[in-house]
Formats: sequence, structure tokens, C-alpha cells
Amino acid sequence: MKNSKIRSASSAILPIHVFPYPGSKRWLLPRAAKFFRAHECQTLIEPFAGSGVVGLSLLNAGIIKKLVLVEKYHKTASVLQAMLDDPELADRYAAFECTRTNVENLIRNEESAFRYLVHARCCYRGRFDLSLDPQLDAHFCREKVVASIRRVHAMRDAIVVINGDAFVEMPKYAADRNVGCFADPPYTADPRSRGHQLYRHHRLNHQKLFSLLAGWHGPWLLTEDNSRMVRRLALCYRFHCKRVPMRTALNKKKKELMISRRRRVF
Ligand SMILES: C[S@@+](CC[C@H](N)C(=O)[O-])C[C@H]1O[C@@H](n2cnc3c(N)ncnc32)[C@H](O)[C@@H]1O
Repeated sequence: MKNSKIRSASSAILPIHVFPYPGSKRWLLPRAAKFFRAHECQTLIEPFAGSGVVGLSLLNAGIIKKLVLVEKYHKTASVLQAMLDDPELADRYAAFECTRTNVENLIRNEESAFRYLVHARCCYRGRFDLSLDPQLDAHFCREKVVASIRRVHAMRDAIVVINGDAFVEMPKYAADRNVGCFADPPYTADPRSRGHQLYRHHRLNHQKLFSLLAGWHGPWLLTEDNSRMVRRLALCYRFHCKRVPMRTALNKKKKELMISRRRRVF
């Protein structure tokens, strides 16, 4: 008991969590930190970035030196990019009064990274396309969000954001031993998986992703749905597959898969 507490404390890192996101891997941070501490890399690519919470937190903790975030959905990518480019994003968030009228006006009148950020903070589970939460400011978290945006902005020289396709960007880094990969694709290998409803870009050739990772030279970690389809793929590629417990946004217990090529350290 004592030992496990000590172990989890040593892998705990500060989350750099700017906006909530469906399928966010914030809960996986201690395991990801432990993995990339044991399997060092200079640069990390997160080809399905979403909120980028894993890569940004590893960078902030000094576990990696550079971060490449790739995200296909332009709204999500624009928030990530704005954290690097817009020195006023944090100030504007700090000054924004989170009332229903203000949020509705913002959503009606603006198509900007700031609008997507506020929308993600004020709607159900960070989905830009859903209606506002009845308890509008429950997840506004002014101080925490402002501090995280400032932190990301301060690290901007070490971060690249690409609004593009994982399958175009990943091959550029595959042969470089110094580049690690944390891949958290939409969970859509099984036609019945929830991932199909959660993301604008949900169609994915999972076998192609497995094949790319099989030829990846640096360390990599893949998360996937605990479905028979994925377990079979992992078996075919002789990857290590571990079921890890987590709680969904609705507080339901479930298991997801952590898949890797090397000796397990999690
Ligand atoms: C499971 S979510 C990532 C969540 C993220 N790990 C987090 O903690 O917030 C998967 C993301 O991959 C994006 N995506 C889907 N297909 C993609 C592709 N071909 N290239 C890049 N991004 C893609 C989706 O838009 C979605 O944001």
C-alpha cells in the first residue's frame, strides 16, 4: 500500500489542462509520465491531439523537450494554436464575465479560438457542437485556465501545432529514434464504439495506425478502446496490451487499453 502510494506520487505531474475534451486523457497522465520517463525521447508527437493535455503536461514537467500536436478538427486546432500565438488570450479569458447573455452573444457573433475555448468550458463535456450547460460556469475555472494558457504561451518555442492529418504527419518522424509518439485516436475500431458519435473526424484506419507504429523507431504509447477488434490487432502485431481501469465522464467504471511495443513499465 505504502509502496504504491510512493510510486504514484513519483509519477504525478501537474496537468496543463486548458479545455475539457471528449475522451480527454488527463486521467492517464501519471501512467504516460511514467512510460515516457522510462522510455526517453527529446520530441513527442501527439498525432490525435484533442486538448493536448498529455503532451503539454509532459513538456511542462521537462520529460520531453519539444512537442508536435496534430489535430484534424480545425476548431480544436485553432484553440491550441491561439495559446501559442495570441498573447492576449489569457487576459481576455481572465476578464470575461461568464454570464448566459455574454456566452450566447459570443457564440452568436464570433468564430474564433476564444469563442471555442469559452464554448468548450460552458457546454457538456467540452463539445463545441452541443448546447450550453444549465450550470453555465461550473467548469469555467478562471484561475486554473488562465495559468495553464500562460504556461503554454511561455513554452511556445518548444511547441508546433499542425491542423492536419495524423497519417500525413506521423511518417515524417517515424525513423527518428529521438521522437516518441503518444497516440490517442478516436475509439472507432469497433463499429459500435462511442467514438463515432463524439468527434467530427472519427473515421480512422486503425490497422494503418498499428502498422505505422510497428515501424516507429522511437518509443510510443497507444491508447485504444477495450474491444475485441483492437485486442486482435494488438495480437497480430505482437504488441503489449494492458487493460487499465478508468472512470467515464458519467462516472462509470470501465477499462481502456494501453498498448506499447516495448517491455511494459506501467
Ligand atoms: C480521443 S480524441 C484525443 C483526446 C486527447 N488525447 C485529449 O486528451 O484531449 C481524438 C482526436 O483525434 C482527432 N482526429 C481524428 N482523426 C484524426 C486524424 N486523421 N488526424 C489528426 N487528428 C484526428 C479528433 O478530432 C479528436 O480530437
